[in-house]
Amino acid sequence: MRTPVIAGNWKMFKTAGESSVFVKEFLPLVAGIKGVEIVLAPSFLSLSAVAALTAGTNAGVASQNVHFAAEGAYTGEVSPGMVKDAGAKYAIVGHSERRQYFAETDESVNRKVKAALAAGLVPIMCLGETLTERESGKTFQVVERQLRAGLSEIAAATAPKVIVAYEPVWAIGTGKTATKEQAQEVHAFLRRILKELFGDAGLAIRILYGGSVKPENISELMAQPDIDGALVGGASLKAASFASIVKFN
Ligand code: PGA
Repeated sequence: MRTPVIAGNWKMFKTAGESSVFVKEFLPLVAGIKGVEIVLAPSFLSLSAVAALTAGTNAGVASQNVHFAAEGAYTGEVSPGMVKDAGAKYAIVGHSERRQYFAETDESVNRKVKAALAAGLVPIMCLGETLTERESGKTFQVVERQLRAGLSEIAAATAPKVIVAYEPVWAIGTGKTATKEQAQEVHAFLRRILKELFGDAGLAIRILYGGSVKPENISELMAQPDIDGALVGGASLKAASFASIVKFN
């Protein structure tokens, strides 16, 4: 059984104070909800505050990025150990905005996945095709390359710790969600590759969908057999809206 994961990616929104206000409003709305892993991904500067407020609750914390080195002369970067020390359990890696604006590659994403695992974090590894790639019939080729490269050199015993997020770039922040059929088709395809790579361990890997997930479409997405959760951007910024996504049933 794969426990569903609902993760909110706040991107470059919310100061530490605003993050705390959100958490105080949000936690009572989801109190007592079991059987779903709830994840909040604030900015690095809000990690400690959100981790302290969520300690002992049913919500965990993720960073939105992490560096691949344990430490070193990398001005402006944050190591997996620092993220873990701040109280995070997860690290989003390879988000399409990082690939697009910060030159992340399949190779750097793979290094980050391995570094996150080594530090005891759960990587949430993002992948997905652009509109041009979809329109030119390259979706499956692109996501297969991203998946295989991103998980290169991961042992089967460790693989179930990884979470994969399929986020078609054309659906992010556009209000244009992939249909449940489009999402399920790619998730099932990714699942087959995970099984080929890791055997039964691959079947334990959660695959989240991301891209304009909202309270209105979460139920039909979660009803798909290979969609194990959601990575939510815009609709995770308001406590009531994110809470209603967490209560997708
Ligand atoms: P969105 O963002 O929900 O605002 O489309 C999703 C994401 O970028 O993870």
